[in-house]
Amino acid sequence: MDNMKLDIRKAEQFLPAGAITALQPQVKAAHEALEQGTCKGNDYLGWLHLPTQTTETFLAEVQNVADTLRKQCEVVVVAGIGGSYLGARAVIEALGNSFAWLQRDDKNPTIVFAGNNIGEDYLSELTDYLKGKRFGIINISKSGTTTETALTFRLLKKQCEEQRGKDEARNVIVAITDAHKGAARAAANKEGYKTFVIPDNVGGRFSVLTPVGLLPIAIAGFDIRRLIAGAQDMERDTALNIPFSENPAAIYAAVRNALYKEAGKKIEIMVNYQPKLHFISEWWKQLFGESEGKEGKGIFPASCDFTTDLHSMGQWIQEGERSIFETVISVETPNRQLLFPHDEENLDGLNFLAGKRVDEVNKMAELGTRLAHVDGGVPNIRISIPTLNEYYIGRLIYFFEIACGISGNVLGVNPFNQPGVEAYKKNMFALLNKPGYEADSKAIKERLQSEQ
Ligand code: PA5
Repeated sequence: MDNMKLDIRKAEQFLPAGAITALQPQVKAAHEALEQGTCKGNDYLGWLHLPTQTTETFLAEVQNVADTLRKQCEVVVVAGIGGSYLGARAVIEALGNSFAWLQRDDKNPTIVFAGNNIGEDYLSELTDYLKGKRFGIINISKSGTTTETALTFRLLKKQCEEQRGKDEARNVIVAITDAHKGAARAAANKEGYKTFVIPDNVGGRFSVLTPVGLLPIAIAGFDIRRLIAGAQDMERDTALNIPFSENPAAIYAAVRNALYKEAGKKIEIMVNYQPKLHFISEWWKQLFGESEGKEGKGIFPASCDFTTDLHSMGQWIQEGERSIFETVISVETPNRQLLFPHDEENLDGLNFLAGKRVDEVNKMAELGTRLAHVDGGVPNIRISIPTLNEYYIGRLIYFFEIACGISGNVLGVNPFNQPGVEAYKKNMFALLNKPGYEADSKAIKERLQSEQ
């Protein structure tokens, strides 16, 4: 079977000879520490063998619930933020029609994402959009207390109950949360919602292959069994017993750490040439950013959609500070075929492209950009997948997860916590006079006054 391929040749040339080989023992030790559960954050390793531990019975249960919502809802709102949101959105957008949100599809409910911001216009427009619609809600929050999601859920639950009645609403609201703790669990238990548990040992950004990602993906009409099959195969292909030279995750982790440490490359730009992959990059940014950016260390994960962003960020990438490298996700063959037509008048001068596939032009843009950026001093890592389907997306997801676990350990940080995320929350709660934050409220108000 065709496979995902990793090409590091255009990155290696920017490194001193032997730099990657020198990192191999550290990569091996980091991978062993994950496997043996001796690494930092070892209480969050539930994702490591999640694909091969996922049973058919479990997938059938998820699919069952998905089928119920598919039958009973024309719109399903997925409420969640960060790891409770990005994975589902990444997969659904990568596999779906680019214009799905504009056209009503009789077979599949429209999936809408919310609970990931506090924009009053957004929420107000959402409630307008949902008026009169048969909508359901998936309330996703591991902690069950995240403000953005809880606030959205409160608004939508009320609207759903008003529009469908409390009894019917109960059948189209699902909670995905902790087994015991948090407000989302309390509400689900009280109202009798169907629930799925986010395992304690799986952190948010590693949870896309749990119901957090699987349920919305199945509701959107995609094959979760193929997604898991892809992840399972990648779990086997990146196992500890696979030699370094054949293990793409170990190689990717080594190259990015070598570029960071040996070549001063502090920013990794995830690049795609298919707009559908925009949210794969967003998911990847969270995975690596929240896992590695701590203790004053970590590559900054950025992203660009090409060729679109070549007309905005291309100049910076070509000639700006040489602190960046690119990782390109390339899709070998698009799912659809579109040929350029011949035009008798040829007013646009494009007849030299007549009869060619659009993708042929895209691929030349990719190659041309790669050569130009490498000439401009930007190392290039290329990850290619044969086509966009559930199986290869599943492979890609597990590849990045395991690479991230290894890479964070090579960097020497705990990849599985996010202590820095609490700082803004503490200030926000203090400013909003949340009960329990009285001392912080007083301190922050005094500080703001003194800064005026
Ligand atoms: O990766 C993480 O743990 C975070 O990004 C969380 O997913 C995010 O903060 C949402 O948290 P919760 O699911 O508890 O609402």
